[in-house]
Amino acid sequence: MRRQEGHLMSILQECFPLANGKPIPKIGFGTWQIPDGDQAYQAILAALASGYRLIDTAQAYGNEASVGRAMRDSGVPREEIFVTSKLPAEIKDHEEVQASFEATMKALDLAYVDLYLIHAPWPWAQMGADFSTQNKAIWRVFERIYASARAEAIGVSNFDVDHLQSILNGCLVDPMVNQIKFFIGHTQKEISSFCRDHAIQIEGYSPLATGAILNNPAIRDMAIRYEKSVAQMCIRYVSQKDVVALPKSTHAARILENADVDFAISDEDMAYLDGLTETVGGNHGPKMTSRHTLSLKAAGSWAGALIPRAKHRRSR
Ligand SMILES: NC(=O)c1ccc[n+]([C@@H]2O[C@H](COP(=O)([O-])OP(=O)(O)OC[C@H]3O[C@@H](n4cnc5c(N)ncnc54)[C@H](OP(=O)(O)O)[C@@H]3O)[C@@H](O)[C@H]2O)c1
Repeated sequence: MRRQEGHLMSILQECFPLANGKPIPKIGFGTWQIPDGDQAYQAILAALASGYRLIDTAQAYGNEASVGRAMRDSGVPREEIFVTSKLPAEIKDHEEVQASFEATMKALDLAYVDLYLIHAPWPWAQMGADFSTQNKAIWRVFERIYASARAEAIGVSNFDVDHLQSILNGCLVDPMVNQIKFFIGHTQKEISSFCRDHAIQIEGYSPLATGAILNNPAIRDMAIRYEKSVAQMCIRYVSQKDVVALPKSTHAARILENADVDFAISDEDMAYLDGLTETVGGNHGPKMTSRHTLSLKAAGSWAGALIPRAKHRRSR
């Protein structure tokens, strides 16, 4: 942590600037697969109490009402929280967009969202199909929502270069964010560099590969050396790539742990992590050098942080 005006400055208070100047926190809290009701309410209260200031939800997650209620009850001023929601991937008729946005706003019970995203370029059941014409029409509605100031920033999610290029050709307001899957070994180089070149902030979802990366031995060995958990290494890595990290947990201790990433991964170790491939499969990347390897005895309690590979669900 750094000191700023006599106070400890945590990464939770640090932001990246969006193209329109609006700051977006570097670390956010994900809410996919957190059921509406008490579980979501408590998780979001815990996240806000732990210092997170970005909450990522979506109409498809079905928990917007709990997100809004927890935000209001948290005691954290509305203007200090950055909340994101998303137009369901299945909505590809532009005439349905405004009504869906109104439903999101009603569920959240807020006057504005900080960021509104097109959840995916195609309905999940038609992944890969061409909806570029529909997405362009949807984007015009997004631009009107942005002009109304009820969404202070607009963007997309799961968009590839072609999807983004098609929106950029002829839009009035460029997408400010692309939320994509991003974790060690899965950094989507082509779309990532396209976004950087076009001042589109990347948000990295599933920074822990939905739990599947947490038993990776190469990252675990490095985590031991830093006296950090695998989750903390993964989240810090994403942030050091200038990508907003969006970890999710329903456990208060992990919510806190995932926010405790005020440390630096060295350039050499970042380069090593950049070189890892297939981090969630059987092959865990290049062989470790002795510099990167520590005795398993040193693993201590971190072994307790390992969890079995999580199952992926459809609607994210
Ligand atoms: N735009 C999209 O299409 C899209 C797609 C996927 C995700 N997202 C967003 O990104 C967020 C994060 O992605 P994600 O939900 O896939 O998951 P993630 O953050 O990559 O991983 C979450 C999983 O890891 C476990 N976990 C979290 N912290 C841990 C820790 N410190 N130690 C051990 N286990 C830990 C969680 O279990 P517990 O909950 O039991 O602690 C959960 O099973 C989502 O919630 C959502 O907001 C967006």
